Amino acid sequence: LTDIADDLDSTLYTEKQIHDKIAELAARIDADYAGETLLLVGVLKGAVMVMADLARALTLPIEMDWMAVSSYGSGTQSSGVVRILKDLDTDLTGRKVLIVEDIIDSGLTLSWLRANLESRGAASVEICALLRKPKAAKVDVDVRYAGFEIANEFVIGYGLDYGEKYRNLRGIGVLAPHVYGD
Ligand code: PRP
Ligand code: MN
Ligand code: MG
Repeated sequence: LTDIADDLDSTLYTEKQIHDKIAELAARIDADYAGETLLLVGVLKGAVMVMADLARALTLPIEMDWMAVSSYGSGTQSSGVVRILKDLDTDLTGRKVLIVEDIIDSGLTLSWLRANLESRGAASVEICALLRKPKAAKVDVDVRYAGFEIANEFVIGYGLDYGEKYRNLRGIGVLAPHVYGD
């Protein structure tokens, strides 16, 4: 039987640790947006798990919408030029928007996305990201709701993929070297 957990080198965050961190972020968001309706914008596909759990941890009235973007660049190197593959259905005029992401790596996708959503007349655009890699940052992104800071290593699980796989791992971990060979 194939178990995707065998492809993990080590677990960085368990399901429980992720759950607790999301509860903590949700409590802050509930307090900060009390009395408002928040529009959560999830960035496909990595953000699906964070979105599903964060949305259910919130007690605020929320709406959900989704974007899919792709950054142009050579190979794995992101260039900061972003193309919209799937746009929002929602008119952002006057809306309080919270972008929901799994991870900020170089920061290029999010800094572009935030500027793009702000230009559509949103009342505010803030960011919630479960993971952040400070050592990989190429641009500084102001993340109001940040979960864990991690080292500059390749992580999978809880929405994060390697070749589109491993998104369904319940925890977050480091990919074992035997998976990508040496
Ligand atoms: C990953 C991740 C973030 C983005 C971060 O998405 O989910 O969206 O990269 O990178 P950056 O900070 O360097 O811009 P990916 O492009 O792999 O798509 P996916 O969410 O469908 O896996
Ligand atoms: Mn993504
Ligand atoms: Mg990916």
